Amino acid sequence: MDAIIAGVDAYYSGTAQRYGPTPRGVDWTSAATQYLRFVQLLKLCDFKAPFSLNDFGCGYGALLEFLAMRHAGADVAYRGIDVSQVMIDAARQRWSERPQTTFEHGSRCTALADYSIASGVCNVRLGQPLAAWETYIAAMLDHLRAMSRIGFAVNFMLPRDGEPMEHELYRTEPQRWIAHCAALGCSVETVSDYGMREFTLLARIPPSASDAPR
Ligand SMILES: C[S@@+](CC[C@H](N)C(=O)[O-])C[C@H]1O[C@@H](n2cnc3c(N)ncnc32)[C@H](O)[C@@H]1O
Repeated sequence: MDAIIAGVDAYYSGTAQRYGPTPRGVDWTSAATQYLRFVQLLKLCDFKAPFSLNDFGCGYGALLEFLAMRHAGADVAYRGIDVSQVMIDAARQRWSERPQTTFEHGSRCTALADYSIASGVCNVRLGQPLAAWETYIAAMLDHLRAMSRIGFAVNFMLPRDGEPMEHELYRTEPQRWIAHCAALGCSVETVSDYGMREFTLLARIPPSASDAPR
């Protein structure tokens, strides 16, 4: 697991150094697709009430741009976590003025939040064997479940018709991870109608399963 994390860190620190705090710096092609993913992930959240949020794999904190633009009045206590120190440095510099905002370097959420979301953390497997990568994803989902009170959301790439999976990337059918989240006691909604070869899982934790008061 440590070797996988070190590889992920090196890869994204490289993109951040090459392209700076921009969509390309977190390996997305454009702000449009980056924001489209946020729209799906945030379907999990009830914006009528204040909430806390773990943004796992936060990059330079682009989600905060999106929240300011699309949910300007929302009361969101935000915690961004990223394995790349380059990303965290950029995020801290950029969002130093935002209240209720913390960034942490690492691959663990350090505090329970109402919701956790993770955009783009499962896709780039850097040639890791499939079984090792799926074990890594399973551990990540278990962790997000443990660090969320109400639910967590994560996105994946879908397989391409009739074509083998690229050695560097991870693609999957939804059922594999729906079953995993259901086994964690979550009720799972799949969102896949947003015009990309991807899907987003919204995993809701039944109130009776939340062991901490909201
Ligand atoms: C594709 S980028 C997306 C960044 C951000 N979520 C966005 O959409 O703008 C994925 C980010 O997740 C981080 N990341 C990947 N795996 C991680 C892990 N296991 N723990 C913490 N951060 C991780 C990477 O360093 C990178 O910044």
